Amino acid sequence: MRVIKTIIEARKIRWQLSGSVGFVPTMGYLHEGHLTLVRRAKKENSIVAVSIFVNPTQFGPSEDLKKYPRDLNRDLELLEREKTDIVFMPSEQEMYPSKFNSWVDVEKVTERLEGASRPGHFRGVATICTKLFNIIQPARAYFGQKDAQQVVVIKKMVADLNMDLEIVVVPTVRESDGLAMSSRNIYLNTEERKAAPILFKALSLARQLWQDGEQNADKICGEMTALIQKEPLASIDYISIADADTLEELKEVSHQPALVSSAVRIGRTKLIDNITLG
Ligand code: PAF
Repeated sequence: MRVIKTIIEARKIRWQLSGSVGFVPTMGYLHEGHLTLVRRAKKENSIVAVSIFVNPTQFGPSEDLKKYPRDLNRDLELLEREKTDIVFMPSEQEMYPSKFNSWVDVEKVTERLEGASRPGHFRGVATICTKLFNIIQPARAYFGQKDAQQVVVIKKMVADLNMDLEIVVVPTVRESDGLAMSSRNIYLNTEERKAAPILFKALSLARQLWQDGEQNADKICGEMTALIQKEPLASIDYISIADADTLEELKEVSHQPALVSSAVRIGRTKLIDNITLG
């Protein structure tokens, strides 16, 4: 496994490679969800590259950039075990030198859901992914379905800007009680961890209602709200049923694939999760 810290080194290695590169961008503190992406990339490409970079431009001023969990040694051990070929872990200065002035802004699909409560977040995500795609030049990049809006934004950016790679979306990996794996789950204390599966329970309720014939989005959201409100440690940021491609809110869940997504705070930790209907 080659661990690379500079863009010059990454380019030199990239020029020497033939065969497809599968790329997994991460912010480190890896869990089974990330490793599932790495395994999928390994299966579908000759070379697997993973980046570890806690991207400051996707954090708002009141967000958790400083205390975002980090454990580089453990990350490298896990990646070595997965037989990762290349790990790119640049410094902040390497990715954002002083006088950095260029940004990638994807409109519309960034306005709702996470975008509404985290202004600038998706501009940071789209910009860093563009830079990483330009440096690594992968044939395929792998993203988890857990961050559903991020997937929609990246796919739109790749299509709009004619980027020459495929975006592969991998199903959410869950703990045995349904909680979606996330680096931020580490913030939950014992009581909060017990309460956290309420989010997936609410999404599963939405699926059940829809399978039983309910198509009215307000009614489904209402039932989800009532269930989550029974959990004293949970407070709802949003519950949404939207078109899975445009993220426009739906009134009826009929034939189109619908994205049911929600953000819930358990104590001070915000959890997001989603399922697709149809
Ligand atoms: O999903 C993440 O971990 C980040 O948003 C990403 C894609 C690595 C960009 O910083």
